[in-house]
Order: sequence, then structure tokens, then C-alpha cells
Amino acid sequence: MRENEILEKNIVGEKIKSFKIYSSEIPKKASPGQFIVLRLSEKGERFPLTLCDWNKDEGWIKIIFQEIGKSTIKLGEMEEGMVIMNILGPLGKPSEIRRFGKVVFVAGGVGTAEIYPVVKGMKEAGNIIKCIIGFRSSKQVILEKELGKIADEIIVTTEDGSKGKKGFVTDALNEILDEEKIDLVYSVGPLIMMKVVGELTRKFNVPTRVSLNPIMVDGTGICGSCRVEVDGKIKFACIDGPEFDAHKVNFEELMTRNRRFVKEEKVSLDRYLKAKD
Ligand code: FAD
Ligand code: FES
Ligand code: MG
Repeated sequence: MRENEILEKNIVGEKIKSFKIYSSEIPKKASPGQFIVLRLSEKGERFPLTLCDWNKDEGWIKIIFQEIGKSTIKLGEMEEGMVIMNILGPLGKPSEIRRFGKVVFVAGGVGTAEIYPVVKGMKEAGNIIKCIIGFRSSKQVILEKELGKIADEIIVTTEDGSKGKKGFVTDALNEILDEEKIDLVYSVGPLIMMKVVGELTRKFNVPTRVSLNPIMVDGTGICGSCRVEVDGKIKFACIDGPEFDAHKVNFEELMTRNRRFVKEEKVSLDRYLKAKD
């Protein structure tokens, strides 16, 4: 087996794929909450994906990603036996895993893959776990079975009602917060979702952590691309995070910053797709 070789490729949902990749070193050091930065070709951009699972004895890591633009589509086109040019990691601060009591995880879309190792760690640390995982429709539902085996309760929501409860993850969270005392909420997903989760838990005074997804380049604190404002201070999500206190994040600024290359991203994707015609 070669370093960074794709050992297994699976389609786990609509435009969502999982890769098991051979890696001798990363699984030895990986912790829940950390991520890797990949590069697919000499001129290719660098982009981050969360370490969803790993095994240091067998030497593999697992990623789950949604194909939304050029790099993730290109990655999704790779097949078993192919080698990913560069993988850097593990990066970022590991999650704080300890016994909090009752923990509710709230994930949207592929954010569900990002909570998976943290859910595992938090369960092993003796917490009571509830997971709320939300998707647009049943076609995107991922990891329901896997998380269901670990969590004490799992709630699936879909916007169109094609699976589980119809509505948003925040509706289900509101119901739980109304009924019982929760010690920690942990959320990963689209920025707008994490913002609303934070606004909700603030009302109930529940400590809340979010794993942020700003645009990252080097992933090691040098380029400044992943700059976020937390508690009025400048932080770099790749080295100070990606997890932060949801009640202190300036989501408005982050949402604006994350849209700053939308035009270029579209041009790049269009060119890539056209070249394949
Ligand atoms: P593009 O068309 O280039 O971009 C689409 C959108 O993705 C952009 O508008 C922007 O908001 C975001 N994006 C683009 N480039 C980057 C970048 N370099 N860094 C961060 N966001 C970017 N996605 C998953 O599907 N699975 C994961 O496990 C996962 N983990 C992540 C962990 C971290 C710490 C971060 C910061 C992001 C994570 N993402 C994950 C998001 C993933 O990095 C982006 O979806 C990906 O970079 C998009 O690249 P693209 O070229 O396909 O799309
Ligand atoms: Fe460059 Fe964080 S990605 S400083
Ligand atoms: Mg891109």
C-alpha cells in the first residue's frame, strides 16, 4: 500500500462520498475535532476536510465529503487504488472531551460526519448523548445507523419531511431545551445553522461549541485566510480552533468572508466541467 492511497470509496448520500485512505502517520496522532488539508495536483488548491474516523493499527483515515465545487468534485472522481497527492495533518486543536453530563449534538448535512468522532469520544467519556442530524431530504441522510449505535437518542430532521421529523434541527433542539436541562450543545453545519443554534442556546443559558468552517489555505496559522472574530478578538480557526464558543463568534463577519471568492469558485468549476465536455 502506498501513502495516501484510496483503499475504499463509497457513495454514502447524494453527492456525498466517503474515502478510507492509507496513512501511516496521521492516525497515530489524530484526535476528535481535528482535520486534514488536501491537495490534488501541483497547481491545485489546498482545502480542509475533517478526520471522520481512523485506525492507527491498520493505518487508515476516513473522510466524508460533499461535492460542491471543483476540488471536492475532482476528489470524488478519484477511484480506489489512486493516490492523493498531498495530505497534511492532523491539524487544529482537538475537541475538549470530558464528562459534561447531557450533551446534545446538532449537525447539518456533512456536518454529521464532523460530529462522528466527537460523539464517540464524548460517549466513551461517560456522557449521555442526543444527536439531532438534519438534511434537506432523505437522499442526503448519512451516518444515521452509525451514530444511532453510539448515541442514547438520535433524531433525524429533513426540510421536506421525506425522513424523520419535518423541519429544521433547531426546532428539535428547541423541544429538547424546553423539556430538560442540557449541559453542553455541540454543533457543526452551515454557518447560518450554527448561528441560529447559538442564539437559541443563549436563551436557555446552555454552553455551546461550534466547529467553524472558514476558508483555509495553509491550515497552520500563516496565511490568515481563516481569520475569525471571537469575543472581539482575532483568532485563526486552523490553529486556535476550529471549535469556539458559539456565543462569542461574530457569525455575520464570517458569513461575509466565506463568500469572498464565490465568483472565482464558479469560474473555476465552470472551466473544469467545460474541459471535460
Ligand atoms: P468551491 O467551489 O471552491 O467552494 C464552495 C464553498 O466552500 C465556498 O463558497 C466556501 O464557502 C467553501 N470553501 C471553498 N474553499 C474552501 C477552503 N479552502 N476551506 C474551507 N472552505 C472552503 N466539507 C466536507 O464535505 N466534509 C468535511 O469533513 C469538511 N470538513 C471541514 C473542516 C474544516 C476545518 C473546514 C474549514 C471545512 C470543512 N469542509 C468539509 C468544507 C470543505 O473544505 C469545502 O466544502 C471545500 O473546500 C470546498 O471546495 P471546492 O473547491 O469543492 O468548492
Ligand atoms: Fe492560513 Fe489558518 S488557514 S492561517
Ligand atoms: Mg475550491
